[in-house]
Amino acid sequence: MFDNWKQAYLPDSTFPDRRVDKELCSRCKRCYEACPTFGLDLDEEGYPVPIGYGGMEQACLNCWNCVAVCPTGAMQMDGPYKVEQGPFKTQLQGAMAYPDPLGLDGTRPYEDFCEDLTPVERTIYERRSNRLFKKKPVPKELIKRVLEAGRFAPSAGNCQPYKFIVITNKNAIKTIEREAMKTLKFFKNLYHNKDGKKPAWKTALFTALSQVMVNEMDPRPYTAVEKAERWDDAIYWDCPAMIMLLKNTHGISNPDLDLGICAQNMVLAAHSLGLGTCYISLSIKPLHYPHMKSFKRKLGVTPPWEPVTSIALGYPKGKIDAAVKRDSPMVDWIE
Ligand SMILES: Cc1cc2nc3c(=O)[nH]c(=O)nc-3n(C[C@H](O)[C@H](O)[C@H](O)COP(=O)(O)O)c2cc1C
Repeated sequence: MFDNWKQAYLPDSTFPDRRVDKELCSRCKRCYEACPTFGLDLDEEGYPVPIGYGGMEQACLNCWNCVAVCPTGAMQMDGPYKVEQGPFKTQLQGAMAYPDPLGLDGTRPYEDFCEDLTPVERTIYERRSNRLFKKKPVPKELIKRVLEAGRFAPSAGNCQPYKFIVITNKNAIKTIEREAMKTLKFFKNLYHNKDGKKPAWKTALFTALSQVMVNEMDPRPYTAVEKAERWDDAIYWDCPAMIMLLKNTHGISNPDLDLGICAQNMVLAAHSLGLGTCYISLSIKPLHYPHMKSFKRKLGVTPPWEPVTSIALGYPKGKIDAAVKRDSPMVDWIE
């Protein structure tokens, strides 16, 4: 129990090893821009360098998007992200591997066998969260096509507990970012002050909240808040369109799950249509706090509706979708 508390703030962690091959690097900055966290900086010559944040050795989610967006293969990484103990202990096996639906155990590279996969499988394995968007607007017909994929998602009791708010007005997206940042900064400052100094009471409060609000207090998203604070547009990544997904809180059984399934239908449809997407919950979580009630009303969010997540949508700037390595979940077989 006491160990759990000790590991709540700056837990013992293993980070993936990220390396930049300067011979190959064209200094295009795509990795630096696409990193969801404050996990890469640029050195004085413009080469990307992996960095840490707030006492963490590295600020890396192990998403591999820096590798996926690199046009020259200069960005390389390997190894798991693991938290060894405490409330944020990871449950993964530390076994990073490329997609292996055919059970080839890494004997053939993905590019070799992807032609043998169905179009749906390829979309699943190659979809990456897109944080580099073209300014080009997404035609309304295409957004409607994405929404339609959501409508045909399965839901408990077929109750379809969804409502969507589609926003293509940049100022409106910015306003949501700004409002969310106020709350996000409060929590981030509990984790890490700008000057690195922190009174003991903040560490104590962060530690205590980590026990009771474990989903909210994982340090990893705070590295993303740090980036959003330093960069303009780093919550919605300057996307030309976003879809907010709301649940009917009176929906049958577990409406959050229904919304997740619905969202993934939309995301996969969007990628199959050549669009890029990124789930954005960083801006949604703050909407659940009581002080955001009047802002929510302005957005048209009133009971029984509650926002669950949102999807940034747009045309990808350059190649972003790509198969990457991923850690492996535990699987128990009962045969
Ligand atoms: C429910 C949910 C919420 C997410 N929220 C954010 C977010 O607020 N900002 C962001 O940049 N990425 C967000 N992501 C994207 C994840 O960081 C990403 O899915 C993960 O790192 C794996 O990378 P991949 O999507 O490229 O495979 C979210 C993903 C999910 C499923």
